[in-house]
Amino acid sequence: MDQTLQSSKKQSYQIFDQIAGTYDSLNRLLSFGIDIYWRNQLLKLVPRRENLKALDLATGTADLALTLSKAKNIDSITGLDMSEEMLKIGRKKVDNKKLSKKIQLISGDGQSIPGPDKSYDLVTISFGIRNFFDVDSSLKECLRVLDNNGRLIILEFSLPKNFLIKAIYLFYFRYLLPFVGNILSKHKNAYSYLNQTVEEFPYGNEFEDMFKKAGFKNTGHKTLTFGIATLYWGDREDN
Ligand SMILES: C[S@@+](CC[C@H](N)C(=O)[O-])C[C@H]1O[C@@H](n2cnc3c(N)ncnc32)[C@H](O)[C@@H]1O
Repeated sequence: MDQTLQSSKKQSYQIFDQIAGTYDSLNRLLSFGIDIYWRNQLLKLVPRRENLKALDLATGTADLALTLSKAKNIDSITGLDMSEEMLKIGRKKVDNKKLSKKIQLISGDGQSIPGPDKSYDLVTISFGIRNFFDVDSSLKECLRVLDNNGRLIILEFSLPKNFLIKAIYLFYFRYLLPFVGNILSKHKNAYSYLNQTVEEFPYGNEFEDMFKKAGFKNTGHKTLTFGIATLYWGDREDN
């Protein structure tokens, strides 16, 4: 992996601090609103048991935490992020929806989760893991905080398999998206960074194998929208 890109991951939350104000509207615009559908697809993978405690890492402006709140069997959701500015916007959204009893947003590093082992039934990460510096140890950290039969679900960008769709998508993703994103967010390279992190990040079987290596069982993955995004899951199963 490109060493400059890898080391800039340590400070990626600073980029999100700078673009927090336009993050939600640009998400909707640049994904043509499909990101909402993707988060709703994640909801279908939530375990069916009652009284779940969920942790949403790299929660940003809390879009996934708010989506999770629709699941009746989730009692509490903790959203964690390193960007205070993203969290501020998330807290306003949570307050507006009168969900502050169910969703709590806290500042912290998703690679070193505060709290004891086995404290959650569900850990989720949407479009966040590729910003983490050490992905293998982050997956193990997720496993550590999951209770027996707990589940990790990750939603992340990936690349389409079909040659033609991939070519069209890469043109959009490499040129149009960074151009429009950098102008509208008034940040010189935030959206160029986004594109680089996606192209360098493992996806499909390769990323699912990392779940297995970290110790997850019953792993799987499902591509969404021609493979532009992929959902991954795995369970903690103690013997
Ligand atoms: C692309 S945003 C995704 C936000 C949200 N999950 C969503 O679906 O819109 C990535 C987020 O990851 C956060 N982030 C990056 N590195 C992090 C880390 N080590 N721990 C916690 N959050 C981190 C950033 O601050 C940013 O809010």
